[in-house]
Amino acid sequence: MSKSDKEGVSRRDVLGTGLTAATVAGTAGLVTGGAAVFVAQPETARAEGEDNGHNKAFVPPGKLDEYYGFWSGGHSGEVRIYGLPSMRELMRIPVFNRCSASGWGISNESLQVLTEGLTPEGKAFLAATNQKTYVNGDLHHPRPSYTDGAYDGRFLFVNDKANSRLGRIRLDVMKCDKIIQVPNAHSIHGLRLQRYPRTGYVFCNGENRVPVPNVGKLLDDYKKWSSVFSAVDGDTMEVAWQVIVSGNLDNNDADYQGKYVASTCYNAEEGITVADMTASDKDHIVVFSLAAIEKAIKDGKFETINGVKVLDGRKTSKLGITVYVPVANSPHGCNAAPDGRHLIINGKLSPTVTIFDWTRFDDVFSGKIKGEEAIVGNLEVGLGPLHTTFDGKGHGYTSLFLDSQIVKWNIEEAIRAYKGEKVNPIKQKIDVHYQIGHVNATHGETKEADGKWMVALCKFSKDRFLNVGPMKPENDQLIDISGDKMVLIHDGPTYSEPHDATIVHKSKLNPLEVWKRDDPFFKFSTDWAKKDGVKLEEDNKVIRDGDKVRVYMTAAAPAFGLTQFKVKKGDEVTVFVTNTDDVVDLAHGFTIVDYGVAIELAPQATASVTFIAAKPGVHYYYCQWFCHALHMEMSGQMLVEDAGV
Ligand code: CUA
Repeated sequence: MSKSDKEGVSRRDVLGTGLTAATVAGTAGLVTGGAAVFVAQPETARAEGEDNGHNKAFVPPGKLDEYYGFWSGGHSGEVRIYGLPSMRELMRIPVFNRCSASGWGISNESLQVLTEGLTPEGKAFLAATNQKTYVNGDLHHPRPSYTDGAYDGRFLFVNDKANSRLGRIRLDVMKCDKIIQVPNAHSIHGLRLQRYPRTGYVFCNGENRVPVPNVGKLLDDYKKWSSVFSAVDGDTMEVAWQVIVSGNLDNNDADYQGKYVASTCYNAEEGITVADMTASDKDHIVVFSLAAIEKAIKDGKFETINGVKVLDGRKTSKLGITVYVPVANSPHGCNAAPDGRHLIINGKLSPTVTIFDWTRFDDVFSGKIKGEEAIVGNLEVGLGPLHTTFDGKGHGYTSLFLDSQIVKWNIEEAIRAYKGEKVNPIKQKIDVHYQIGHVNATHGETKEADGKWMVALCKFSKDRFLNVGPMKPENDQLIDISGDKMVLIHDGPTYSEPHDATIVHKSKLNPLEVWKRDDPFFKFSTDWAKKDGVKLEEDNKVIRDGDKVRVYMTAAAPAFGLTQFKVKKGDEVTVFVTNTDDVVDLAHGFTIVDYGVAIELAPQATASVTFIAAKPGVHYYYCQWFCHALHMEMSGQMLVEDAGV
């Protein structure tokens, strides 16, 4: 307590002098080329004022970044692609949200992705509430797929905490191609992937405890509610199996051997009020044995609930598929170190990180040793440790939410200190601004951790940016970790709310420049074209089928293949547009005025949209992505006849 008070005071001192000094030093830097003049400043404040680091992260116009950063968009529901080290936002990938620019949530192709994998209950809910899809999502954890512990550039998997979904983004086109709603689980939060031999399983934590199945029974009997852990097959996007656990699942991570997954759990008390949930000074981690689970499934030890094979992995279970290891109350981050051997559990309410040795879980599962004997270190790091990332050189970097700091510490030294040796594993603490959540280093979650850059995703920006009203941006900070000392390089305001980010070297990805015409993403349109005997790349045609009308047209700068079509009021109209330009970056769009219709057409893409022609009159459609000097002229008219007029 006295320590935190003392740190709090010294931290305020740093802020008081640091902000002024940083501003002045920054100005001085412009004039003198970055000479550090305030020698007496604390180290972190001085680093902020220097220009040298900025030069290192500066990517000049026309030059490319070295890394792709995949940022979650939090409750905006999207993913954002950043370039690192410039921290430039390169693109947005709509997933669980609607997007006015790309027509995500409007086009048939996107609606198919958004709806086909929902549970029957989810579909019934949307139908009963007159909605085509959920319009909100809460995307926390973007995770690139692995082969043998390294990023393989196939997919990015993302969770939706708001509507219990899992999404998959294809990294060749940077589009979401599959979304499923996970049955039985309530609120998908923690999400990590099988690292070995490959992804493989996507591990999804159902955070909240609910009755399983959640159909209106056991409403008043919360002791019988459960959290559900799910393994989804990343190739088929089907739930492979689920395990019912004790306590609330928080974050999880998998080992580098393909044997175990661990998850932090809070609320071991299984209460429903904050007082209940924190009554005990211990919570636990739960460790899942993949081999034991697969055997139990094979042996038929499951119960099928809502079409999914569900195993009992609660504390009372005799199946031997889980072990529970007590740790300090309310652990949060769960991070496998790139050394392949250690798992770091971040204390949150406890000022410690606990180090587990994955290799000891064999003996824990066979009953030779107790779960606590898999612990090889317990290091006091500061207040509010939430997540740990790694540089591949033996260090952990742990975010400290309450201290608003990142602490760099040495894993081996922490293990030696735990054995009683007199070493100080703490190497450096750096101030971040402010209240940091996730922290991620370049390739830090792979066996190829390269120790170059780290991002600190801060929940509050407070005084770091111009005041934009009562709602403030978050602050994502870039930190250079290539030297002995962490150096703060860049502040990046972000909106609602990048919980987490993963950073992938550009050598791992090779996205397409232009769509391939046989891409399955256009299946909705190609299926209809086949039925109608239409060639999407050539034909411009209106096909009437009762009160259903299908309009096929091409788009080639600066004209649509059809500059006019006529329908009747009340018709159900589907417009299919194919961008026949195969020039890189030559995108078109299709927007109908006063009809709420907009779709995106990247080069060689087809997209379609279905709507009721409910409003008679002349309605212009136009291309909304700038494509040509005559872009403004790229338009046409939908004529909607009203028989009664
Ligand atoms: Cu086509 Cu703008």
